[in-house]
Amino acid sequence: MGYVKGRLLISKEEIEEKVKELGAQICRDYKDKKVIFVCVLKGAVVFYTDLLRAIGDKVDARFDFLAISSYGASTKSSGIVKIQKDLSTDIHGENVIIVEDILDSGLSLSYISNLLRDRSPKSLEICVLFDKKERRVRPVDVKYCGFTIPDEFIIGYGLDCAEQFRSLDAVYIAEPEE
Ligand code: IMP
Ligand code: MG
Repeated sequence: MGYVKGRLLISKEEIEEKVKELGAQICRDYKDKKVIFVCVLKGAVVFYTDLLRAIGDKVDARFDFLAISSYGASTKSSGIVKIQKDLSTDIHGENVIIVEDILDSGLSLSYISNLLRDRSPKSLEICVLFDKKERRVRPVDVKYCGFTIPDEFIIGYGLDCAEQFRSLDAVYIAEPEE
């Protein structure tokens, strides 16, 4: 069964404002410090590039990317997380912020943060744009969070449903096709 773009949940303007706020928060906490920002591919890409431009040069920001297995064509988590692309930098002794699109069951982010913590960074924090709090299976400690959202499957602003809809500039609820 396919999905279509349903009701608008969060507008482009609301996202823009929130991303700026998150950027300002991170700038306050890490002013002039070196931070490796880890983008979790592919969903976080759009948020990541906007967030990093909001941060600008107030932080000595470095880019790196990590890919884990996704939901595939389903809207439910398989619960199985696997690394598909690892970082290209050594994070030992560095400040690291993981940037992710959405926190759902918490399986992905708890796996990723345990993996990176094992590499002994100086500090490790998580920044997510969306949080579906009521779906949590595994606890995840998030320092920077954009929006807490209801238990709906959302698309747009990087978020996909079976690889579709990532390029929408706002966030919509995915609805099953009639
Ligand atoms: P978790 O491991 O269950 O916390 O799932 C996190 C991952 O599931 C995210 O990185 C997304 O790729 C995906 N995901 C969870 N909810 C949604 C959604 O509503 N829309 C699109 N992707 C989602
Ligand atoms: Mg993702």
